[in-house]
Amino acid sequence: GDPRLQAISQAIRVIPHFPKQGIMFQDITTLLLNHKAFKDTVDIFVDRYRDMGISVVAGIEARGFMFGPSIALAIGAKFIPLRKPGKLPGEVISQAYELEYGTDCLEMHVGAVLPGERTVVIDDLVATGGTLSAAINLLERMEAEVVECACVIGLSDLKGKRKLHGKPLYILVEPREIEDCC
Ligand code: PRP
Ligand code: MG
Repeated sequence: GDPRLQAISQAIRVIPHFPKQGIMFQDITTLLLNHKAFKDTVDIFVDRYRDMGISVVAGIEARGFMFGPSIALAIGAKFIPLRKPGKLPGEVISQAYELEYGTDCLEMHVGAVLPGERTVVIDDLVATGGTLSAAINLLERMEAEVVECACVIGLSDLKGKRKLHGKPLYILVEPREIEDCC
């Protein structure tokens, strides 16, 4: 495999029992502090998407905003923020999605993406896939062509894959269970 991936994985801090008991929180802020690991992460996505005719990178608030714009700039695509409700000032479409307890919602500006535009959705992490699924829904309602979803962290045998409307999911590293960062 890619020799950069182990260092990327090691740069992600694991914080047990955050935000609640039993959750092994995958903290990408330590990846952002490590210039080489951060740049390698962006470069891997850029190398994958630069020649795929992608004109849109859509990033999911908040942690998708930490990777998406750098990728968009490097491949010559535009960046579309998919935001939590009530943040975007223009006309929006909204898509609710299920959380473990209750629901949340993502919004996108109408007119941000044009019909047929080839789009990649970026987030830091996929767990259930509910968030990515809502993002795909928003983009497809505007007739974008969602080519792939990409995350830094995810389980390769993800149950949530079923939720991704058959779209390919590209992930760099698996979540870690141990506290051996940095
Ligand atoms: C986290 C993470 C992903 C999502 C993954 O975001 O950044 O966006 O959960 O979970 P899922 O696959 O089960 O949907 P969160 O909503 O906690 O907020 P943040 O990015 O604003 O910190
Ligand atoms: Mg998030």
